[in-house]
Amino acid sequence: MPSLTKKARTAIVLTITALLATGCSDDPSPGSPAAAVKERRDNYRRIGDAYKQIKETIESGAPDAAMVQRNTTLIRNVAALQPALFPAGSGQGSGATTRARDAVWSEPALFAQRQRDFIAAADALLASGPETLSVRHEALTQACLDCHQDFRERR
Ligand code: HEC
Repeated sequence: MPSLTKKARTAIVLTITALLATGCSDDPSPGSPAAAVKERRDNYRRIGDAYKQIKETIESGAPDAAMVQRNTTLIRNVAALQPALFPAGSGQGSGATTRARDAVWSEPALFAQRQRDFIAAADALLASGPETLSVRHEALTQACLDCHQDFRERR
């Protein structure tokens, strides 16, 4: 077997190192605005998926209570992560594709209030018996809308 020249070996090592550093996917580099936005949007998508499942089972007329509990718990847990999902410099003009409005950073008290209202609505749904399921689900929906209204760009 022909042995590789030192130069060829160095080239191979450098290529492998570069591949390891960038990963084989197109994940944005850690700490960048794009990475922060990706994590944020991934988490809101988890909320959105869980929300959709709750809505569907309630609208079916025979809600699966265990499924509502499971998905509301997920929403509740992800909602608690929100403060960490909006690092400074990850908004409009950061170069990342985001719908988070500048108000997130310029009106932190109102934004925090919206997060608390959201968590309270999820807690109320978690504590709900069958009779109040619909109305508490509507209240949760309203908490999504109230925040989106002020803090998410319209398309
Ligand atoms: C406290 C504020 C707040 C609450 C409450 C909230 N959201 Fe959002 N949501 C946002 C913001 C801000 C964005 C934009 C994130 C971005 O583009 O960087 C967003 C984005 C989203 C997205 C788009 C994710 C993507 O793929 O880009 C979905 C879906 C979503 N939210 C669903 C929901 C649902 C469903 C609820 C309620 C169960 C909810 N959100 C509650 C602030 C909130």
